[in-house]
Amino acid sequence: MTTKKITILPGDGIGQEVTAQAVKVLQTVANQYDMNLELQEKPMGGTAYDLTGSPLPDETLQACKNSDAVLLGAVGGPQWESLDISLRPEKGLLRLRSELGLYANLRPAQIYGDLVEASTLKREVVEGTDIMVIRELTGGIYFGEPRGVEMRGNERVGVNTLVYSESEIRRIAIMGFEIARKRFKKLTSVDKHNVLEATILWREVVTEVSKDYPDIALNHMYVDNAAMQLIRDPKQFDTIVTTNMFGDILSDGAAMLTGSLGMLPSASIGGKIGLYEPVHGSAPDIQGQDLANPLATILSVGMMFRYSFDLTEADEKIQKAVVTTLDQYRTGDIMTKGKTQIGCREMGERVIENL
Ligand code: IPM
Ligand code: MG
Repeated sequence: MTTKKITILPGDGIGQEVTAQAVKVLQTVANQYDMNLELQEKPMGGTAYDLTGSPLPDETLQACKNSDAVLLGAVGGPQWESLDISLRPEKGLLRLRSELGLYANLRPAQIYGDLVEASTLKREVVEGTDIMVIRELTGGIYFGEPRGVEMRGNERVGVNTLVYSESEIRRIAIMGFEIARKRFKKLTSVDKHNVLEATILWREVVTEVSKDYPDIALNHMYVDNAAMQLIRDPKQFDTIVTTNMFGDILSDGAAMLTGSLGMLPSASIGGKIGLYEPVHGSAPDIQGQDLANPLATILSVGMMFRYSFDLTEADEKIQKAVVTTLDQYRTGDIMTKGKTQIGCREMGERVIENL
């Protein structure tokens, strides 16, 4: 029997509720595969700041580093928005990704079951959409220096820097091609080559790497066009590889194709330890009301089995259970006529029944 150490970081807002359901799924599936789990829960984000003065306390970071995988809920909330940026919940998350060396963020946007009805787009546009957004996660404008707000003359100036080294681009490009190879063999690299030097280099390096992948069809697209094409004709996309900030923005858009941001899971990989988290935020407006959709976090557990424990079958099993559950039950965000509306906790229980 193998034992896996998993650190659970519920974080803020609905993070607590959605991780509680996902942990039940994690436990159920682990039992089915004779896997022993050592779970430890640690504070993270604003909750951690309130407890310790830091959004990523050393103890939490050390626990993550000593784990086989990490499951995170969400971070952030209005009560922490006025803190200095270095102390904000989001900063804790960015530092965690960076400390764990998680340079690749995988965000699969696909439509589960008849969720097509929940999409704001027309059925014929979205039906059959299956996109993998690969977002660079530890570089770009999120981490570039110099940064800050400073006085220049008699006014304040805000500064951020978009910076990518060749090696950073190369490794995420390789990840893009490798993943496209396991999917439908088409890779779209998204940049702003017409304006930004950092992405002129991006396009050059991605093109160089493509020489090693003659079986993959590569195309390049400007980010503004990509945003438009995602809504116009999402089925043209297979795998997308892009920078940190473009990936942040496009993945929220891609998520809505599938009906709800509450459905999109993610895996952050590239280091020794994988981090799994829903793409949605902490949704403080519905916190504590048992209204949240736990499926993105539950599907993130599936991604953990696939990418950290090499158990593709367990991921497929979880996805299947989610599809079966959606046949009848919906949380409010994806509710449509003819289905039964349930809360976060019951959604977790229904998925477990279908496992
Ligand atoms: C995401 C989130 C984060 C990001 C925030 C919470 C820092 O929007 O994971 O997409 O921008 O990376
Ligand atoms: Mg985001």
